[in-house]
Amino acid sequence: MVSIGLLKAAVVGLIITNVPVSAQVSPVVSETGVLAYQFSLSNVTLTSSRWQENERRTLTYLKYIDVNRMLYVFRSNHKLSTNGASANGGWDAPTFPFRSHMQGHILTAWAQCWVSLKDTTCRDRAISFVAELQKCQQNNGAAGFAAGYLSGFPESDFNAMEEGTLSNGNVPYYAIHKSLAGVLDVWRIIGDSTAKSVTLALADWVDTRTSKLSTSAMQTVLNTEYGGMNDVLAQIYLMTGTSKYLAAAKRFDHTALFTPLQNNQDQLSGLHANTQVPKWIGTAKEYKATGTSSYLTIAKNAWTMTVNAHSYAIGGNSQAEHFRAPNAIAGYLNTDTAESCNTYNMLKLTRELWMTDPTNTAYFDFYERALLNHLLGMQNPSDSHGHITYFSSLNPGGRRGLGPAWGGGTWSTDYDSFWCCQGTGLETQTKFADSVYFYDSSTLYVNLFTPSVLSWSARSIYVTQSTTFPISDTSTINISGSGTFAISIRIPGWTSGASITINGVSAGVSVNAGSYAKISRTWASGDQIVVTLPMRFRTIAANDNYNVAAIAFGPTVLCGNYGSTTLSSNPSLSLSTLKRSSSTTLTFTGIANGANVSLVPFYDGQGFNYVVYWAISGSFPTASPLSITTSTTSTLLTTTSLVSTTTDGPCQSIWGQCGG
Ligand SMILES: *[C@@H]1O[C@H](CO)[C@@H](O)[C@H](O)[C@H]1NC(C)=O
Ligand SMILES: *[C@@H]1O[C@H](CO)[C@@H](O)[C@H](O)[C@H]1NC(C)=O
Ligand SMILES: *[C@@H]1O[C@H](CO)[C@@H](O)[C@H](O)[C@H]1NC(C)=O
Repeated sequence: MVSIGLLKAAVVGLIITNVPVSAQVSPVVSETGVLAYQFSLSNVTLTSSRWQENERRTLTYLKYIDVNRMLYVFRSNHKLSTNGASANGGWDAPTFPFRSHMQGHILTAWAQCWVSLKDTTCRDRAISFVAELQKCQQNNGAAGFAAGYLSGFPESDFNAMEEGTLSNGNVPYYAIHKSLAGVLDVWRIIGDSTAKSVTLALADWVDTRTSKLSTSAMQTVLNTEYGGMNDVLAQIYLMTGTSKYLAAAKRFDHTALFTPLQNNQDQLSGLHANTQVPKWIGTAKEYKATGTSSYLTIAKNAWTMTVNAHSYAIGGNSQAEHFRAPNAIAGYLNTDTAESCNTYNMLKLTRELWMTDPTNTAYFDFYERALLNHLLGMQNPSDSHGHITYFSSLNPGGRRGLGPAWGGGTWSTDYDSFWCCQGTGLETQTKFADSVYFYDSSTLYVNLFTPSVLSWSARSIYVTQSTTFPISDTSTINISGSGTFAISIRIPGWTSGASITINGVSAGVSVNAGSYAKISRTWASGDQIVVTLPMRFRTIAANDNYNVAAIAFGPTVLCGNYGSTTLSSNPSLSLSTLKRSSSTTLTFTGIANGANVSLVPFYDGQGFNYVVYWAISGSFPTASPLSITTSTTSTLLTTTSLVSTTTDGPCQSIWGQCGG
């Protein structure tokens, strides 16, 4: 089912010419249990902001990267000419075990740039790249591979994996997952029929291969990192309605991981974190494909555990790529914390779960926290190609781009890194618009405060959101078009005293932190909603030591700028000395270890040594020259399930410091 859409020009304050934006292909099977729906990236346009600046830097790289170099390992493995291209380095080097994991991310990012920015270069690159991949697939007879196989490493690695003799560090299904996800996106987002053929041929290869294994032999295969194979195969089932893909998805259900999660037992300690998160996205998808509630239970329990007991203040999880004991945070403030991929995957999981439970603000409170404080700042803003960090170091005096050598150590580069986080980063930085708005039959949801224009063409409604949030605490939402429906606006758990006006008059609805403010009315063109979300200082304590905390102002985690000073412990910050320096920027001062320190958003923490976690003392100021609202209790993220309680947790005085 292919629909060709035209973006309407009638957008308030923004002229967009009529260009065909999509030939997007819809799934043939509707998802079960979904109560709110995503808009296509074609319906939401970012306007001027840091989000858009990041997107543009990544776009520059996506249009620059040499396509023949990216085809090298595929062509070489499938015995085609590499056309004189240079081989890549890093994780796409011809000798790297799971080379060819990167290209799927690039395909997705090209497709996203096409559908959201109408960038024809990205569309054409995606289509021609997929055509070259098909030539590789079609040369399988000569290359000695089974039909449909597509990879930069030999198919014999799968024999070795199944026999338990694979010893070269390869994680072959991890790379296959990424290729499948990339060609699937070119099929459904661009509507390219070659991409459909390549996707189904590769999925058929997976089905044929895995259908020959006994259940226990398959569970042994699942002891390797296999990405989101259950996720992508469930999606291919939804796209086609062909049940063999659902059966293949279920073969990737990892019993050893899923059973404790279904029983809500946190046995994550010691597991490689990013091996697990994609499987949970898969269970959310398998729930939507089957209606089997145990899949949803696994995904929700995993989300709650990870957010509450395994996440740092910035929303990232893992140390040295591994989950540690539940609530172990202060003990693991190292250089190799918060792998970026994990958060990319947690955000995918978050939106999948929210769409089944769209009155629960906990999901997008986490989404905002992790997107703003972890993934926005992973990109180097002074690099026109928008290169990224693998980890976000949280040690005192940490510095982006100076991580541990084994995990990159530097910012990513054009051709010599190709780490997992570089691939997921390309996707993240080109889809900031995908989770701002959602809808159902009677409601528009506003989940994020991101400057943007929404074309809700199905209702002939256009929404313009203008804000400098989180610098300002106000967002203005203008409506163009008319109709009767509700607008549900997320009122974050971190605010207090929030308010909403419509055309200058109080909206007259409940506006409570940690809930949706739902305004039902007949809207008319020119209606203007103003949302005010007062911000205050908060501590976000380490779960295992409440004397160690990050400082946030509203949603924004702050970091101290220590220039090139080396630190060996968390400086002691006197909370009462914190002041905002300007009402138009997020700059603050305070006194730590007896010396002045300036603080800025952690997303602006590039190019200097920083401190995110402090030894805290005293309490926040009760007044400031800039009339900053201050908190009386600290925000503890661990006390109860964030799924059921959405407001700040109570201060637990057993830990001493409560920040107020
Ligand atoms: C929103 O509407 C107000 C009042 O109609 C108008 O002054 C303002 O320019 C509009 N803003 C945008 C971004 O369209
Ligand atoms: C998104 O935009 C396309 C055309 O650009 C339109 O066909 C579709 O209905 C829009 N989606 C919604 C939910 O309005
Ligand atoms: C911090 O800076 C202020 C303003 O420059 C200055 O008056 C004060 O003495 C400094 N405090 C410390 C502890 O250095």
